[in-house]
Amino acid sequence: MQILYIKHQSRYSTQSTTMDDYLRLVTYGSAAIMGAYVVGTAFYSPKLDSIPAVGPSGIFSSYIGAYRYLRYGKDMIQEGYEKYRVFRVPLIHRWDVIVSGSKLVEELRASKEEDLSIREAFNEILQTNMTMGPNILGNPYHISVTRVGMTKNLDLCFDEVRDEIEHTFADHLALEGNEWKAIPAQATVMQVICRTSNRLFVGLPLCRNRDYLNLNFEFTISVVVAAQLINILPGFLRPIAGPWISPLKKYLRRADQHLSLLVTERVRMEELGNDYEGRPNDLISWLLDVAEGEERTVPALVQRILVINFGAVHTSANTFTHALFDLAAFTASFQEMREEAEQIIKEDGWTKVAVGKMHKIDSFLRESQRYNGNSITSMGRKVVKPGGFTFSDGTTVPAGCFVNVATGPTHHDPDIYPNPDEFDALRFYRMRNEDDEEGNIRHQLVATNLDYLPWGHGRHACPGRFFAGTMLKTMLAHIILNYDVKLEDEAAGRPPNQWFAAICIPNGSANVLFRKRQF
Ligand code: HEM
Ligand SMILES: *[C@@H]1O[C@H](CO)[C@@H](O)[C@H](O)[C@H]1NC(C)=O
Ligand SMILES: *[C@@H]1O[C@H](CO)[C@@H](O)[C@H](O)[C@H]1NC(C)=O
Repeated sequence: MQILYIKHQSRYSTQSTTMDDYLRLVTYGSAAIMGAYVVGTAFYSPKLDSIPAVGPSGIFSSYIGAYRYLRYGKDMIQEGYEKYRVFRVPLIHRWDVIVSGSKLVEELRASKEEDLSIREAFNEILQTNMTMGPNILGNPYHISVTRVGMTKNLDLCFDEVRDEIEHTFADHLALEGNEWKAIPAQATVMQVICRTSNRLFVGLPLCRNRDYLNLNFEFTISVVVAAQLINILPGFLRPIAGPWISPLKKYLRRADQHLSLLVTERVRMEELGNDYEGRPNDLISWLLDVAEGEERTVPALVQRILVINFGAVHTSANTFTHALFDLAAFTASFQEMREEAEQIIKEDGWTKVAVGKMHKIDSFLRESQRYNGNSITSMGRKVVKPGGFTFSDGTTVPAGCFVNVATGPTHHDPDIYPNPDEFDALRFYRMRNEDDEEGNIRHQLVATNLDYLPWGHGRHACPGRFFAGTMLKTMLAHIILNYDVKLEDEAAGRPPNQWFAAICIPNGSANVLFRKRQF
């Protein structure tokens, strides 16, 4: 899950009063609360002494470390990775434990929900019970709908996905003649992703409604900001102030204006069973295939659609913005990818099967996620086992602490990926071809393993990655086949990333130049 897009907010939305309110709340609120909180928690120290700390670890000096971590998280995690298998880094309100190496990562993957909980981790980081509603974690049926229903229907929905990609790019690029045109990368990708995803979620015409798209962008940001705020409150204040801080009610009301008629009608149609003629093949149907009891009510379905947008849009948009900068900056394989895509489409037509065969584009996106993931830690879990969780090396992480994997340093470890700091677009393409039949699967974009963790790994690995993978590959192929792309400032190179602790956000203000394909 992505944290903090506050800075970019104004560009996504014309209605930024809400965000201004939140920003003010955050700035003044957090200053006051922090003072009280620092004093209140300075004396609370979980039994972490046996785990080495990166940065100062004194009761007060660790707060300096926490501010360093916000700015230089990348360096601190790299330092920890080089020195230790298990270490901890200071956050403002807690320590995070970070593990690395296939042995320990495998133990984290294999752990049980009763020992290392992803639900409790989400609930603490995002305050899910308050910001999205307690039924989301209580009955997380949208996860299986995403993994099974959405993935299964991708074949049938492919033409719509592609249609929306074509339309959105045409609308947002609006190229004329053969001139280069500067396009704001992040804001444009955001629109394309949100529209394309919602073509599949709620269909036309709603997926092109400006306010509906904006409310989905804003909901994500508001939830993240609200969760941060709730998190720095002292525990006893959370249940009191939390519901008031939570943006959920407001966004449900706003989403209702767009969705309630549509969803009401769809729920009514289901009274005849789920095989009536003309039943749309979209997320609403896939939810209705599984939802039971209370979850079949209109408000609950609207809420679920918001939550899926939360999980889908910013993650995919940031991933693709990184990839677009890579495409413009690392041009060595551009022509090869174009030729491969062209050849395959000539043989198979513009189908999902064809996209599945575009191994060079697949490799490019996999390399882009390796090179710059959305986060340099992943697989966050909260220790819920009463006595703490003990790894095979003897390290015990106390209950209540968070464990993460040092994803970024793993992805840049020269023992795992030769020349790790070089963007090698066809790295995974070659690995696929060199390897046996199984390797053909092992190195594709959506495959996870102990050395490749942008989607997480194991039981909880991102259930949306099959959809995301197909959508992102189709977008990249569409760009490569129809446009020429380059950096606005070639001398300056790839626009620098923005860091917030472990979160790596592609530059929010940089442009990429587009023109109609010339050759
Ligand atoms: C490039 C885009 C995406 C990336 C990089 C990404 C990454 C991730 C990661 C790292 C996790 C946590 C895995 C773990 O902790 O073990 C996750 C979970 C999840 N993702 Fe994605 N994701 C993406 C797109 C999507 C999309 C498009 C959807 C929905 C359509 C989605 C839905 C979810 C859900 C529901 C979970 C929670 C799974 C659980 O609790 O078991 N994601 N994703
Ligand atoms: C969140 O809500 C779920 C479902 O109601 C509940 O089981 C869980 O205990 C709640 N978690 C917290 C920390 O309140
Ligand atoms: C993002 O890119 C723009 C233009 O290339 C540049 O002016 C700006 O400083 C960059 N932002 C960051 C945070 O690096």
